Amino acid sequence: MKIDILLGLQWGDEGKGKIVDAISPDYDIIARFQGGPNAGHSLEINKKKYVLHLIPSGIFHEDKINIIGNGVVIDPAVFKKEIETLGLPVDKIVKRLIISARANLILPGHRILDAAYEYTMGNTKIGSTLKGIGPAYTDKVARKGLRAGEILRSDFRDLYKHHLKEHLLILKNYDFQYDLGEYEAGWFEGIETLKKFRIVNTEYLINDLTSGGKRMLAEGAQGTMLDVDFGSYPFVTSSNTISAGACTGLGISPRKVGEVYGIFKAYCTRVGSGPFPTELKDETGNKLRDIGREFGSTTGRPRRCGWLDLPALRYAIMINGVTRLFMTKSDVMSGFSSIKVCTSYRSGAKEFYEIPFDNTQFEPVYTEMAGWQEDISHIREFDKLPLNLKNYIKFIEDKTGIPVTLVSVGPDREETIFRA
Ligand code: GDP
Ligand code: IMO
Ligand code: MG
Repeated sequence: MKIDILLGLQWGDEGKGKIVDAISPDYDIIARFQGGPNAGHSLEINKKKYVLHLIPSGIFHEDKINIIGNGVVIDPAVFKKEIETLGLPVDKIVKRLIISARANLILPGHRILDAAYEYTMGNTKIGSTLKGIGPAYTDKVARKGLRAGEILRSDFRDLYKHHLKEHLLILKNYDFQYDLGEYEAGWFEGIETLKKFRIVNTEYLINDLTSGGKRMLAEGAQGTMLDVDFGSYPFVTSSNTISAGACTGLGISPRKVGEVYGIFKAYCTRVGSGPFPTELKDETGNKLRDIGREFGSTTGRPRRCGWLDLPALRYAIMINGVTRLFMTKSDVMSGFSSIKVCTSYRSGAKEFYEIPFDNTQFEPVYTEMAGWQEDISHIREFDKLPLNLKNYIKFIEDKTGIPVTLVSVGPDREETIFRA
């Protein structure tokens, strides 16, 4: 059976959690393949909101297997808190969730290092979520990581101390105050929570189950423009957020990949530092933030808002091999007399479509379109959407060559329009 991938095409927060939950009934397995607690995936069921950080967004469905893959970095303290606040009995979560033995752990030292690096960078800081992501992936690639499968070793505490010593040595170079004890206590409690779960070689499990006919959805975190290779480096996260990341982050062959669902907001948002060509630092940007409730699910920070950036979307479609587009938050754009969409970039007299690798400044070139005024959150059939919204979608399809087969009109799992 082919494995489908759902991932963000912008700077994260496209609504991945909501859509994964909404389409989970079509799958048997839902697996996260990269990122860690920097992710905040929200979903709403009967108007009750849940935010997931490490746990895949299929967890609220009975009889689904959720997998935290080898490409994810796990902070046991965050994991424990998430389990406790999910609103599901722990034994149910234990039944539904399996963790890769190869997934690297975020250690207390990683979190402190993340903060120390950001603190000393001043104006050039990345705007990290301060969850220890960068330092944890750094140690993984440097072959100095501690992995989930190691927590049952009798010498685990010694291993931990060895890693801690290294982190404290680095921290000596930074003029940064920290309280290790505060993190450590919660971290070791989290290790005990992790021990309740099946920690296995998930790559065998995934390949066996999918070869046997089980359907699997790989759930991306962050977004393509935050990818460590293809995003606006260095203002990126530390993992490959793109479709290729699903292969390395789960142990699946590219030949097993089926559909690649690319999810994007009807406009753009970004949280943290870095280039954002269509950013609106005006009343329109504030209106999008207020109506769209654009505040970070993980950090609560206000998200920067702007118009849809089609050259960036086309880039993301190319890098990921997107087969279908899913558009979210179109309801937020109701009430604008006209809307803009960026169709190319300009620098001086030069018009172009490629995103420069070095984050050089340029201007967006816009096409203006008529907006739509109607409240669309109750609509469940594509044909009933306002004509101007359908024109907007058609414009996006024409410019990208990819069909928009799902339109989300609200945060609840029911507020979703599936288009054949
Ligand atoms: P993720 O990180 O991609 O899962 O996205 P987040 O959960 O961080 O941010 C998306 C936000 O938009 C959440 O608060 C969702 O509840 C909300 N949301 C998702 N889809 C829609 C939609 O179609 N309309 C509206 N109004 N909100 C949505
Ligand atoms: P989801 O999965 C939006 C951003 C941070 C920062 C940069 C690096 O909810 O879409 P990191 O903590 O990874 O070192 O931060 O990436 N960032 C996100 N922005 N959504 C996310 O996840 C993000 N995860 C990281 O704001 O700019
Ligand atoms: Mg999010």
